[in-house]
Amino acid sequence: MTRATLAATPSPSWTPDQPIVRLADVHKSFGTFEVLKGVSFDVRKGEVVCIIGPSGSGKSTLIRCVNALVPVSAGSIQVEGIEVTDPRLDKLALRRKVGMVFQQYNLFPHKTALQNVMMAPIHVLGQEKREVEARARALLAKVRLAGKENAYPGELSGGQQQRVAIARSLAMRPDVMLFDEVTAALDPETVKEVLVTIRELAEEGMTCMLVTHEMSFARDVADHIYFTDRGVIVEHGPPATFFASARDERTRRFLSQVL
Ligand SMILES: Nc1ncnc2c1ncn2[C@@H]1O[C@H](COP(=O)(O)OP(=O)(O)OP(=O)(O)O)[C@@H](O)[C@H]1O
Ligand SMILES: [Mg+2]
Repeated sequence: MTRATLAATPSPSWTPDQPIVRLADVHKSFGTFEVLKGVSFDVRKGEVVCIIGPSGSGKSTLIRCVNALVPVSAGSIQVEGIEVTDPRLDKLALRRKVGMVFQQYNLFPHKTALQNVMMAPIHVLGQEKREVEARARALLAKVRLAGKENAYPGELSGGQQQRVAIARSLAMRPDVMLFDEVTAALDPETVKEVLVTIRELAEEGMTCMLVTHEMSFARDVADHIYFTDRGVIVEHGPPATFFASARDERTRRFLSQVL
């Protein structure tokens, strides 16, 4: 068993009926600028949460903290009972649990779609090539890219490249997926195919934390919506309540601009 496999075992005290992600009073400052001012919420296994809010309100920072791309200044984040803010944390083990997809797909341009999906399991986890290839092919089919295995990123549309990026992330077999505005750079006609992929993942029970500006998608797919403004969660609730009867003035103003 590799070191990563060992460390990826959930904390012995964690059981799946407990929140899979738990944020407690998370603060983050860049220099003297406090971006997150005490954010707390739980995500349960299989739950889909959407984080929405104005530009600069700290959404990307928040979800980057979850896979330790950004270190928090104070507070606690646990994934399957493992403290992400622990300086002794094995980040590789954490990132096996927590996949992340960004607005920029960051595919390797000189590798085919299949090779992009296969790279991390082979080179980071040292898994066996044949097994990884079979899984990568199945994942490309799952994101509806069967037939594009040998295409290079430059030969794919933005939406297709983003689906390769999703498949690449899934190849690590994560328990939680983070999506940060993954459709923001796409042409309108390719947005939908990426949203369909995410919706299918959600329907299969993948725990998802999504930052999105796609309000109708959030309404449709989310179990719970969190609205952030200036580093705090201003308001949250299930989509039906959240969109129909936001109470806070800041939420209402934001929704009136985006709906
Ligand atoms: N590495 C960094 N160093 C300094 N300031 C940063 C850094 N990253 C983010 N910030 C600042 O933190 C604030 C929140 O940024 P963040 O990217 O989390 O916002 P956001 O809600 O994702 O915005 P958007 O909707 O535009 O993506 C912004 O004012 C940003 O300039
Ligand atoms: Mg952002």
